[in-house]
Amino acid sequence: MTETAPKIRLRDVHKRFGPKAVLNGVDLDIAAGESVVVIGGSGSGKSVLIKCIQGILRPESGSITVDGEEVVGMGGRQIERVNAKIGMLFQSAALFDSLPVWENVAFGALQAKGMDRKAAFDLAVETLSKVGLNADVAELWPAELSGGMQKRVGLARAVATEPEIIFFDEPTTGLDPIMADVINDLIVTCVKRLGATAVTITHDMASVRKIADRVAMLYQGKLIWVGPIADIDKSGNPYVEQFINGRADGPITMDLRR
Ligand SMILES: Nc1ncnc2c1ncn2[C@@H]1O[C@H](COP(=O)(O)OP(=O)(O)O)[C@@H](O)[C@H]1O
Ligand SMILES: [Mg+2]
Repeated sequence: MTETAPKIRLRDVHKRFGPKAVLNGVDLDIAAGESVVVIGGSGSGKSVLIKCIQGILRPESGSITVDGEEVVGMGGRQIERVNAKIGMLFQSAALFDSLPVWENVAFGALQAKGMDRKAAFDLAVETLSKVGLNADVAELWPAELSGGMQKRVGLARAVATEPEIIFFDEPTTGLDPIMADVINDLIVTCVKRLGATAVTITHDMASVRKIADRVAMLYQGKLIWVGPIADIDKSGNPYVEQFINGRADGPITMDLRR
């Protein structure tokens, strides 16, 4: 593998559910250390795209490589090895209610890496401090946290094992604009500190502008525009223009009967 080989590479990826083609030929190269944001409407297939890269969903055809290794068709144990390089902040944070905050944050270290509980607790406290949370939060239960704090804990969990790749699935959904901005800043800081490759999916344009080196827009199963964030306001693409300006009128039409 040469130094310039992409960290993640998708070629002609197709994924359908029954009659519904969700991904219909997706091509994308993501360089090591790059932050790519995938935009697109609700139900456009953004989460499906990430799940295909993680091997949670299996595309019918096409190729997905991580560090040059083909993920499509890879067996369970191999997939686990690839996923050990990946941290993930889930939509709605998705913390384990039955575990205290510190065990949520150290989950990957305890499970995959077999770290002892004392070291895992210390790692959790240290990682919590990086997302602006005090040590006393470590012993709380997820239900005791506000939405913004849950997102911070989810972010701490995503970065605790210092992954090479981090996926953020709608990191600001459900947060007020100020807390959303705090989370966006933390994402940028954490990704930079780790030198990680980041893939964020969102429909929040404030996030896009803050987080993205490059933007890819998913529409009807294809990436219809990919370009640097600096070009997004002069994309010349009517779909992108409609989306980033949040206009009801334009080529993107909602099927309101579904
Ligand atoms: N496991 C699944 N089984 C059937 N349909 C699914 C599954 N996961 C996602 N879909 C469908 O795929 C489409 C894209 O979903 P998703 O990727 O979650 O959208 P979003 O862009 O909002 O993240 C939706 O129509 C959704 O209903
Ligand atoms: Mg989604």
